[in-house]
Amino acid sequence: MKHVTCIEDLRLLHQQRVPKAFFDYADRGSYTEDTLRANSEKLQEIKFRQRILVDVSKRDLSTTILGEPASMPLVLAPVGLLGMQHGDGEIHACRAAQAAGIPFTQSTMSICSIEDIAAAVDKPFWFQLYVMKDRGFIKALIERAIAAKCSALVLTVDLQVIGQRHQDIKNGMTVPPEWSLSKLVDFASKPSWVAGIMRGKRKTFGNLAGHLKISEDITSLSTWINSQFDTTLNWKDVDWIRSIWPGKLILKGILDTEDAEIAAKSGAQAIVVSNHGGRQLDGAPSSIEVLPEIADSVGSQLEIMFDGGIRTGMDIMRALALGAKSCMIGRAYAYGLGAAGQEGVAKAIDVLAKELTTTMGLCGVNTIAEIDDHVLAV
Ligand code: GLV
Repeated sequence: MKHVTCIEDLRLLHQQRVPKAFFDYADRGSYTEDTLRANSEKLQEIKFRQRILVDVSKRDLSTTILGEPASMPLVLAPVGLLGMQHGDGEIHACRAAQAAGIPFTQSTMSICSIEDIAAAVDKPFWFQLYVMKDRGFIKALIERAIAAKCSALVLTVDLQVIGQRHQDIKNGMTVPPEWSLSKLVDFASKPSWVAGIMRGKRKTFGNLAGHLKISEDITSLSTWINSQFDTTLNWKDVDWIRSIWPGKLILKGILDTEDAEIAAKSGAQAIVVSNHGGRQLDGAPSSIEVLPEIADSVGSQLEIMFDGGIRTGMDIMRALALGAKSCMIGRAYAYGLGAAGQEGVAKAIDVLAKELTTTMGLCGVNTIAEIDDHVLAV
């Protein structure tokens, strides 16, 4: 890993090591991908104030996230199908996050089950919930997260219907992987991926197996999501979830100040300002463009988290400067996982931490608490 100096290096290694269908699933976005591109482009437009001759010898990335100490203001976002990027991928990612002292969020659409991860790690992790029509199953899923001692529930609120990702259709992305002739040619050039997947505990969605009356082979993920996810989901259901889940609740996928204001009264402790990494509403604003107004409006009532386009520690600094208390990364660590399992995820976290600490130094800042819009050039 010593030649890996940035997240883009991990991305290229991921692309080499993992079949195209799974790499593209992580890498690409919905429709024209305008929002996907805007997330990074708008972050890069934000410039820093270079400050000089400030004592920056005591730089410290540590902070708290929802009241818990964290080594830096970073959380691994829920990402579906991690176990298809690397055998037992969710366990690798969770171990890397916990070793680095930051939270890991398990997606409902994981390959490892909640129980698989709980058995493999010794600290609590967060669980992300998608609400499906079968509410008995959803209640049971929340109860499983409680039994596994998950320390926060992340309710994703921006995926009642799925934005089409053209590339997933073109690639015939299936779970479990389809061993068709064209796929076999691709798999044959990725032997370390094949070996890892073969060794992995599961080949399909661990949280769903045996619970839903579906075929275990979900051949078209988007068709399946459109048939199972509950399009009636509304604010009353947040009350219902609140009544089952006793712990910290985070609403992920808020992009509008009016929604953020409702969220502030919903009993949630935090929101994630997010457009789902440009994978949902194509044409939505970049997350960073809406962050300042949302943070101004509800930042004193809720903890503000941010995701969308973070590929560098400089991006984390930008989001903190505009009102986020912490950031989530999705692709940035999925690339690390695809590139090299736990070691690759650890590398992604380390790259971002080093970039953040250097940026703080060059902006004349020692602590996370000091980061506000004074670090930005106007
Ligand atoms: C699911 O969360 C996805 O974006 O694919």
